[in-house]
Amino acid sequence: MNNIKLKINGRIYEVKVEKNYTLLYVLRDMLDITGPKEGCGTGDCGACKVLIDGQALNACTTLAVKCEGKEIITIEGIADGPNLHPIQESFVEKGAVQCGFCTPGMVISAKALLDQNPKPTRDEIKKALNNNLCRCTGYVKIVDAIEDAAQKMRGDNHE
Ligand code: FES
Ligand code: FES
Repeated sequence: MNNIKLKINGRIYEVKVEKNYTLLYVLRDMLDITGPKEGCGTGDCGACKVLIDGQALNACTTLAVKCEGKEIITIEGIADGPNLHPIQESFVEKGAVQCGFCTPGMVISAKALLDQNPKPTRDEIKKALNNNLCRCTGYVKIVDAIEDAAQKMRGDNHE
């Protein structure tokens, strides 16, 4: 066992982990941070995405021991207290919250994208969602929501 410190949503957690524990296991099963979901467990669906130093990465294929000293943000850390993040607001307003299981991962991918590229094209948004599988209704409303959130975050005029 290794004692490690992880910084998650601004708070430091000390955990005892084996070298092969995934970040997703530590978040969900050890720390009860259950926003990141376990879909495939093999890096294919994006339901477990978290921000690690600003990059949207799959927690199911990331080893917890590799995350020491990094800034981890889960969906729980995206909102500002009781206020939803503009991306979350736009997902709700545009009807992009679909099955719910995939949504946290989509919001995380959107956040990583918009932090790096405040004015993405629809194609760039679709590319950022490449690793977020949705099998229910497709991506149109999700892309609409991210475009809408980008406008809000830039402070553009917005109906
Ligand atoms: S659960 Fe991690 S990518 Fe599917
Ligand atoms: S949002 Fe989960 S399958 Fe479409």
